[in-house]
Amino acid sequence: MGVIIIMFIVAYLLGSIPSGALIARQFYHVDLHKEGSGNVGTTNTFRVLGTKAGIVVLILDLLKGTLATLQPIIFHVTTINPLIIGLGAILGHTFSVFDHFRGGKAVATSAGLLLAYNPSYFAIEATIFVTLILLSSMVSFASVIAAALAVVISLFYHDIFLTVIAIGLSSFIIYRHKDNIKRILAGNENLVPFGLYYHL
Ligand code: G3P
Repeated sequence: MGVIIIMFIVAYLLGSIPSGALIARQFYHVDLHKEGSGNVGTTNTFRVLGTKAGIVVLILDLLKGTLATLQPIIFHVTTINPLIIGLGAILGHTFSVFDHFRGGKAVATSAGLLLAYNPSYFAIEATIFVTLILLSSMVSFASVIAAALAVVISLFYHDIFLTVIAIGLSSFIIYRHKDNIKRILAGNENLVPFGLYYHL
């Protein structure tokens, strides 16, 4: 039990590293909480700081979830499902101990969990996500729909654990996007400068 608690704490601390806010403050002297959508995740980093910083934050946020989830596999701990440990990173990413318990909307870090646990499931979800961005020009719309579809796709893997976690995580991601959903419905959500909808 001790090793499981330690892995969960490590996952929480990893997830708590506020990649976006940290890079914005250290390298651009910008408070990401006060710019763009105010979110400290990948999308707002792209929006406020540009492509280079956005890609770095995307990779770091994804890696937080992947490394956290890989712990039980690396240390041959079979008494816990790796996804449970991965949830520690989600908790840290959204309620960061290093950033006044603030954080992102859990999309990239959740993708990191999937990458570690089931790469083919990750690849399907990533394809859906990118396709939806290219159609809607809205990362939030792609995030919410991909989260909902994650539950449906999980059913094809006949892994009850994966489905239960998918339901929990998807609900959480959709909840974290409640302001985005209001903007989407009102027709004034932020667009990314590419994709079909942007050019309509
Ligand atoms: O991953 C977060 C994204 O779905 C929305 O980000 O900054 O537009 O609220 P943002």
